[in-house]
Amino acid sequence: MTSIPKFDSIKPKEILLGVTGSIAAYKALDLVRRLKERGFEVSVALSRGALEFVTPLSFAALSGREVKVNLFDPATEGQIDHIALARRADLYIVAPATANFLAKAAYGLADDYPTTLLLATEAPLLIAPAMNPVMYQNPANIENINRLKARGVTFVEPGVGDMACGEVGVGRLAEVAEIVAAVEKILGAPGPLVGKRVLVTAGPTIEPLDSVRFISNHSSGKMGYALAEAARALGAKVTLISGPVALAQPQGVERIGVETALQMREAVLAYAHSQDMIIKCAAVSDYRATVLAPRKLKKQAEWSVSLTANPDILAELGKTKPAKQVLVGFAAESENIVAFAQEKLVKKQVDLIIANDISQPGLGFKADQNQVWMVEKDQVTSLGPLPKDKLAQKILAWILAHPLLGPRLL
Ligand code: PMT
Repeated sequence: MTSIPKFDSIKPKEILLGVTGSIAAYKALDLVRRLKERGFEVSVALSRGALEFVTPLSFAALSGREVKVNLFDPATEGQIDHIALARRADLYIVAPATANFLAKAAYGLADDYPTTLLLATEAPLLIAPAMNPVMYQNPANIENINRLKARGVTFVEPGVGDMACGEVGVGRLAEVAEIVAAVEKILGAPGPLVGKRVLVTAGPTIEPLDSVRFISNHSSGKMGYALAEAARALGAKVTLISGPVALAQPQGVERIGVETALQMREAVLAYAHSQDMIIKCAAVSDYRATVLAPRKLKKQAEWSVSLTANPDILAELGKTKPAKQVLVGFAAESENIVAFAQEKLVKKQVDLIIANDISQPGLGFKADQNQVWMVEKDQVTSLGPLPKDKLAQKILAWILAHPLLGPRLL
């Protein structure tokens, strides 16, 4: 087995967002949404004041991560979580930032999560203040802002307009789009797949025999969902066509639920043409019942079922794919992995087959880990074993670094 040119795992940029107690705190929810859409990962910490305006649950739902509030939480701070978070960040934003926060930041006080993170991080700092105009213009506040600016902190200046308190002046939180633009000025383009469309299929299909019984397979959807999340984290607009699985809908991903192979085919073909990349990770049932019994069949000593082959969705895509599209199939093999995968590569006319050995305990179907072979006509590269989320990141990084496939996506 040979290997392709060197590649690194492309990781999404990590943003820490501190939210403090202002009426504008609700706008930070939209900020999280916009940052996630652009492919950033976001961890949120709330001050006690912020809790008066917004809930940790809303931020957890939008960020897909636990929200930090209590600096002395024994469940997480046993591992000194605030230091780990601070170290991991590529950027620390505080929005909205109150006069109280700015004063504490200017003097190095750390009595809650947002202020402690500020002291603990070495990441660049971006602050978007929001407060009453008179408070904003107060010499003490201006002095604190200047002190922070002198230390290299970037400010997204507040706007002028009607305030919640009824007064008019400078103090409104900058527009979310302005804050996002400031973030991108500091961090650069968020992900290499921004503006690209990626379609992932995942999970099994189920093929009914009568009104209660069906044939299917052991796919849990974990591998496909991990790929969908990894593509979204790199900035892609992701559509996930999923058979029935017990997994939560990934944040920021459009999910279309299907049951049978025929339904999956219809959904895939409806989307296929507009996609920059398609990854067919679903374990599509190869057969369906030739005749579907409309009711529950009565128990009998023997039951012969006639099966009809389902259409091969991947092969159909291979025949009609636009030249620039990257088409990737999976192959679940239990022997002659590379040889069988190479046959599928040619037969289904795809750019790449990602083969996995489903005979290995702890890998493949249902497992949390997997190992794959990236199978091309004349070379094969092994990735893993790794947890499926990490493996999905590596798979996408490998494709993006590929001398022929990468340029079609970048
Ligand atoms: O879901 P998990 O529990 O995480 O498990 C992951 C997995 C093992 C299901 C996954 O890694 C995997 O191998 N998926 C492909 C399974 C499969 O159907 O392999 P296959 O060799 O039978 O099919 C080859 C390719 O043709 C696949 O891309 C498949 O989606 C596609 N196919 C197959 C049959 C069919 N009728 N239409 C298709 O499009």
